[in-house]
Amino acid sequence: MDFSLNAEQQMIQDAVRKFARSEILPYSRDWDHAGKFPRELLTKMGSLGYLGVPIPEEYGGAGLDYISEAIVFEEVGYADSSVRTTLSVQMSLVELTILHWGSEAQKQHYLPKLCSGEWIGCFGLTEPNAGSDAANIATSARREGDEWLLNGQKVWISNGTIADMAIIFAQTQPGSKSKGMVAFLVDANTPGYSARKMTGKLGLKASDTGELFLDNVRVPDSARLGEVGQGFKIAMSALDNGRYGVASGCVGSAQHALDASVAYAKERIAFNRPIAGFQLVQDMLAQMKVNVEAARLLVYQAGWVKNQGQKSTIPVSIAKYYATEIAKQNADMAIQIHGGYGYSDEYVPERLWRDVRVASLYEGTSQIQKLIIGRDLTGISAFE
Ligand code: CAA
Repeated sequence: MDFSLNAEQQMIQDAVRKFARSEILPYSRDWDHAGKFPRELLTKMGSLGYLGVPIPEEYGGAGLDYISEAIVFEEVGYADSSVRTTLSVQMSLVELTILHWGSEAQKQHYLPKLCSGEWIGCFGLTEPNAGSDAANIATSARREGDEWLLNGQKVWISNGTIADMAIIFAQTQPGSKSKGMVAFLVDANTPGYSARKMTGKLGLKASDTGELFLDNVRVPDSARLGEVGQGFKIAMSALDNGRYGVASGCVGSAQHALDASVAYAKERIAFNRPIAGFQLVQDMLAQMKVNVEAARLLVYQAGWVKNQGQKSTIPVSIAKYYATEIAKQNADMAIQIHGGYGYSDEYVPERLWRDVRVASLYEGTSQIQKLIIGRDLTGISAFE
């Protein structure tokens, strides 16, 4: 067993860390206040290969492994969870899904545009009445000759209003749940497709979240991703990648909470000594360190399974559950250590705390991850 990063992984870690700490982190607070980050950031990240880390070079990607992908998410997540969310959706939920399920023509058409940042993608699964119960979607797909007619609504779609294309999941036979689902690649300029920004979020304010409306959207059969009836499997396999991205990003956020807390505890004087000297503060710092190290190991374990080409559902659910929960704990302890300043947006813990709260909700709640793990342990499904 070798716990060290190889030369290539170390190189990408050094490069993306430098990039994220100089081109993202200094601006995070302003972007949070403005409710957006510049579109050019994504083009720049695309030109550096950060938008297509595990995508083969022939499709415009960097052709690196899944540990390298986790490293990119961790470093970007350290700097800004909003940017990391945009990146996770682009790379994990959209690009990898097209890579694994797309036809050659679809891969050649979409992947270079997405990897370069010329285009942004989004993942249209969740609906007003189908979140955790993803097989219960109501968006309909009706075949008419060589075309399909799509009607429905999607909510909580990251990148929703900035996306140039979407993977849309729809139902071909109402009531058939996972059996009748189908997926399509839909360009945002298709007549009948529209998006509306969702506002009022607790955190991740700089990341775009939208509703999608499909009003008699007509797409050719060549826009279908995979076969009719494979839509649910496509969604679940996409989430095996998406949840890995969320987990990796949360390791970065948890590390940031720790680093900020160590620095502050060494500077802040109370009772004539740095608060870092108090046992109860060291207790919190030690707990944060254990949290982040354990989460990173779970992420790397899941990445190792992915690199072997094995099914990663269970290690990914374990990593996603753990990393998202400890990221919340670390952000909370960082506020505790910063005292009153931790409650102010002058210091970073406040934003980390707001931004990371969603991580145990989106791409499958912590409860869903536990039920996936529980079903694997017992052979009994809580969902039937
Ligand atoms: N990979 C491939 N196939 C899979 C799979 C996977 N990981 N998981 C399940 N399948 C297949 C099964 O093998 C099965 O196939 P057969 O019918 O051929 O046997 C089929 O899919 C149905 O599987 P299940 O019986 O496991 O389905 P289920 O209904 O019990 O699943 C669930 C229940 C696990 C709770 C699932 O609905 C789930 O994960 N829900 C959470 C959804 C979610 O994470 N939503 C987030 C959306 S994305 C987002 O947050 C927005 C954003 O922009 C960030």
